[in-house]
Amino acid sequence: MTQQTIPVIAIDGPSASGKGTVAALVARELGFHYLDSGAIYRVTAYAAQQGGVALEDEPGLVELAHKIALRFDGVEVYLNGAAIGNVIRSEEAGRAASQIAALPALRAALLERQRAFRQAPGLVTDGRDMGSVVFPDATVKIFLTASAEERAQRRYKQLIEKDFDASLAALLQDLRERDARDAARSSAPLRQSADAALLDTTNLTIAQAVARVLQWFREAKA
Ligand code: DC
Repeated sequence: MTQQTIPVIAIDGPSASGKGTVAALVARELGFHYLDSGAIYRVTAYAAQQGGVALEDEPGLVELAHKIALRFDGVEVYLNGAAIGNVIRSEEAGRAASQIAALPALRAALLERQRAFRQAPGLVTDGRDMGSVVFPDATVKIFLTASAEERAQRRYKQLIEKDFDASLAALLQDLRERDARDAARSSAPLRQSADAALLDTTNLTIAQAVARVLQWFREAKA
C-alpha cells in the first residue's frame, strides 16, 4: 500500500462539536489510526509557553515545531518524552492553540508531521483543515458541527469530568470568539468545504453520529 492509497476519514468542524469523540470511536470500530490534529496545535502552544517563546513569534514557533518530539498513546500525549496529561485540554490551552494556528508559516511547519500519521490500514483524523489542506485526497470528508449552545453544554460536561472549573456562560462566549477567530483567519479558515458532507449532531447521539460516518465511509469505498 503506498501512502496515497491508505484510506483517510477527515472530520473537520468547530470547537466542542464532538468531532474528536466521534473520530476516535470510528477509528476504533475500523481498527484505524487516529490523529487529533488540534492536540498538535495545543502541544505546540504549550511547548512555546514552557520554553519562553512568545505566541506571536512566528519564526520562533516554526523552529520549535520542527524541534519538539511528539508522541500520542491513546489519550496521552508525550512532549519530548514526558507525558503532559490534561494541561493541554484547558480552555486557556485551546485559546493559545487557536492563536498560533492563525500563523501560516507555523501551519506549514506542522503539515508533514500530520501527514506522517497516514499509515495502514487507515487513518481517522479531526481538526479544521484535514479535508481541505492536510489530506485533500481523503476518502471521506465530513464537516461535523452542532449549535453553539449544544457545543457549550458538551464542553462543560467534558471539563467537569476532567475536574476543571467551568461556567456555561463563559464557555459559550469563548466558543463564539474561538469560532470567529478560526473562521476569520486567512490561512485554512474554519469552514465547510464544497466536497465535505455536513453532519449536524445537535440532535444526534454519539452512536448515531458514528454510524453515519461509518455508512458514508462504506459508501465511498464501494
Ligand atoms: O480541536 P481543538 O479545539 O483541540 O483545536 C484547538 C485549536 O487549534 C483550534 O481553536 C484551532 C486550531 N486547529 C487548527 O487550526 N487546525 C486544526 N487542524 C486543528 C486545530
